[in-house]
Amino acid sequence: MTNLGPNDVTRVLPVVTPDAFDAAFPEKAKRRLLPWPPPRQHEPQMRRGNDLPPPTPEPLASLEGRNVSAWFGTHQVLDRVSLTMPAGVITSLIGPSGCGKSTFLRILNRMHELVPSASLAGEVLLDGQDIYDAERKLVDARKSIGMVFQKPNPFPAMSIYDNVIAGLKLTGIRADNDRKDFLVESSLQKAGLWKEVKDRLRSPGGGLSGGQQQRLCIARSLAVMPRVLLMDEPCSALDPTSTRVIEETMLQLVSDVTIVIVTHNMQQAQRVSQQCAFFLASQGTPGLIVEHGDTEAMFDSPIDPRTFDYVNGRFG
Ligand SMILES: Nc1ncnc2c1ncn2[C@@H]1O[C@H](COP(=O)(O)OP(=O)(O)OP(=O)(O)O)[C@@H](O)[C@H]1O
Ligand SMILES: [Mg+2]
Repeated sequence: MTNLGPNDVTRVLPVVTPDAFDAAFPEKAKRRLLPWPPPRQHEPQMRRGNDLPPPTPEPLASLEGRNVSAWFGTHQVLDRVSLTMPAGVITSLIGPSGCGKSTFLRILNRMHELVPSASLAGEVLLDGQDIYDAERKLVDARKSIGMVFQKPNPFPAMSIYDNVIAGLKLTGIRADNDRKDFLVESSLQKAGLWKEVKDRLRSPGGGLSGGQQQRLCIARSLAVMPRVLLMDEPCSALDPTSTRVIEETMLQLVSDVTIVIVTHNMQQAQRVSQQCAFFLASQGTPGLIVEHGDTEAMFDSPIDPRTFDYVNGRFG
């Protein structure tokens, strides 16, 4: 489904001013009781205050999956996967296609449940609190745990500025105009895009290059001040230069936000991540983690022979 943004509205309603109305219907002029202009019912809600915390960084958060299993219908795709993704660290998830990396990532911010046939078991703890707890709201999990996808997905007709703050409305966060300006600049700075776009913030997001669009999506995720950023193969559609810029951005960001990245690029996993988990689904069986730990050790001296074969390009 195509996502529509505010700039996609094409229908313009005719405006009848009160003076024109009064001139046309003088006998009704006195009886016109409606206030003019009519009270606006949408945006002012956003302008009354700031729901965001002050712009001081929140403490870094850890994320932990405990005994996570997943199904699509009756097809089990993950079997009791447990993994701790430490605070302030980049954790990479590696493994052959179809072993459940993206499914695991989507479970980490409650996106798996959007698929009608999908179900899951287990717990996901953000700083020790289960995000699936019945008391906790879905939107809170999405606010705290952002996601960047393989294919950059900005709203193409929406301005760069509005793209960055699009997540505020979607997650019900109020911010006044000053705060929005601040968020736009700081999020674009953190995403490494500010210098390239600061003079064209009102141009459409769709006019940026692929690498710039991906950084715009990173900025959009950062604007709601997440504590964890999940990235599903964020560079797989990008050229080497854009890939390098995103990797540098990630290394800068990790002092503010815990990062989990899925990648098929073994060099990338080694360049950016301190922790690594190797997923595998043997023929016909659900995915599980074969080995996880310090990235350098996983690549230099893996314990499991299957990890050795995978990181050395022998399969997958
Ligand atoms: N929406 C869906 N409906 C049914 N099955 C699905 C759905 N999404 C994924 N699957 C199945 O779940 C399993 C895990 O898929 P997933 O996308 O998590 O793998 P992956 O490790 O991310 O693969 P890749 O590296 O190719 O992205 C696969 O067998 C896949 O076919
Ligand atoms: Mg995937």
